[in-house]
Amino acid sequence: MRVIIKQDKQTVAEWAAQYVVYKINHFRPSAKKPFVLGLPTGSTPLGMYAELIKLHKAGKVSFENVVTFNMDEYLGLEPTHPQSYHYFMFENFFNHIDIQHKNIHILDGMTKDYAKECRNYEQTIKDIGGVHLFIGGVGEDGHIAFNEPFSSLESRTRIKTLTDSTIKANSRFFDGDISKVPIQALTVGVGTITDAQEVMILATGANKAPALKQAIEGGISHVCTLSVLQRHPHGIILCDRDAASALEQATIDYFLEIEKNNF
Ligand code: GLP
Repeated sequence: MRVIIKQDKQTVAEWAAQYVVYKINHFRPSAKKPFVLGLPTGSTPLGMYAELIKLHKAGKVSFENVVTFNMDEYLGLEPTHPQSYHYFMFENFFNHIDIQHKNIHILDGMTKDYAKECRNYEQTIKDIGGVHLFIGGVGEDGHIAFNEPFSSLESRTRIKTLTDSTIKANSRFFDGDISKVPIQALTVGVGTITDAQEVMILATGANKAPALKQAIEGGISHVCTLSVLQRHPHGIILCDRDAASALEQATIDYFLEIEKNNF
């Protein structure tokens, strides 16, 4: 696993965006051979999306032949609800780039048949040939997408009940009112994420430090689903100094040294 430690959240955002642009351009996507990107919501990736929009407007990247799959969606929120992940994605990213609407995939949180919705999502990913780069954030308890602690590391897209700690953490987007936060979500599984050719998880801020410590220096465990990245052939944790602050100094030194000349 690569651990790339940057100074602050802005440099994390810039590095992440540059990397995505590099991967897309290097791939030379076409209508027949699109680049497939897995995408997260949350506050962490906002800077990356802003940078990607800038790079797109500067003519450095086109999303015309990029297909996206979002990680998750709250159950019971209309796509027009300002806190739905649909709304988030269009507001913060899709409305500002040249992506084709038919290439955007987000789980339908209003579905009446969520088992079918989840099955279809997995099938659509499979049919397109899998995800090239899955980007994610991480929860304070180490969850990726909505794969809360004790999710199977082999899990697929499914319905999940959110933990109290996630509901509390996410209530900041719902006027601080815990009762407004949906208690369930549809989410890709840990296995869905790790099936991607490459996985890049972004983490900024000291509140993510315990999760990163467990994921990087602890063993692989369903207690912290991010730790599964240890066995991925192309896993990247891209973080700032604050998120890396609970790591042993020797770990920090090792990764700073080994990554100093890498992209
Ligand atoms: C939610 C999302 C996760 C995200 C996490 C952290 O639980 N389902 O995908 O990684 O929040 O969010 P933030 O980046 O705002 O800390």
